[in-house]
Amino acid sequence: MKRMKNDRLESQIAQVAEVAGYLWQRGWAERNGGNISVNVTDLLTESEKALPAISESYALPKTMKWLKGNCFLVTGTNRRMRYVASQPMENMAIIRIDNAGDTYEIIADNPVRPTSELPSHLSMHDYLKGQGIDNKVVLHTHPTDLVAMTHYRPFLQPDVLGKLLWSMIPETRVIVPKGLGIVPYELPGSMALADATIQLLDRYDVVMWEKHGALAVGSDVIECFDMIDTLSKSAQIYLQARAMGFEPEGMTEAQSEELRKAFHLC
Ligand code: 13P
Ligand code: ZN
Repeated sequence: MKRMKNDRLESQIAQVAEVAGYLWQRGWAERNGGNISVNVTDLLTESEKALPAISESYALPKTMKWLKGNCFLVTGTNRRMRYVASQPMENMAIIRIDNAGDTYEIIADNPVRPTSELPSHLSMHDYLKGQGIDNKVVLHTHPTDLVAMTHYRPFLQPDVLGKLLWSMIPETRVIVPKGLGIVPYELPGSMALADATIQLLDRYDVVMWEKHGALAVGSDVIECFDMIDTLSKSAQIYLQARAMGFEPEGMTEAQSEELRKAFHLC
């Protein structure tokens, strides 16, 4: 980092770079697929938050009421995750929302334009903050197995796919206790996609955007990755069973309920 010398921020950047590498290795990040944002406001000093901008100011699609003056580390639009991993600040930027919540500008390190999914990401940060939830991270990626499953209409009914994935291996319900929501197809980068996603965030840890990708929210980027990775593990078990020619039996409702109680899940 040229503009900020800050160990806590450096370690957050290193974590995002680590996860970007995992997304690429998993085959979920073709070309520029996927994006990550982290609220880093609490990691910055007052003088870092007040640094002069290195870009013009850009309008946001709606007022971000709870994010006034907040700063975010965001992956750049059209940037490849494999290069976020190897050269993080050449492919990410730190942006600052203005004090009215209506615009943002880039304050570090290079003038990298944020992801086209910024409306979704900021809407989610804004919504969760407004609910009093200490959410820091929004992670979006394109897991092949999970996206394939959203091409099958019966799986798009509420809780059908989530329950199926929970039933493939006990860990999935433990790691993703609120389960998987389904957002019907909307144009990537649109406010319609952002609004539809927000409606499911109270109820689920991870949502699938139909025929597009997964989105996880949380306080830690590694945890967000782990939730999607665990869902993908369940998807793999299901698909491998189907490839062997049988419909997997799945854990019973009673076994899932026993697990919920034993692990004090919601
Ligand atoms: P960006 O390169 O703008 O982040 O877009 C990638 C993507 O996955 C859109 O949903
Ligand atoms: Zn995408």
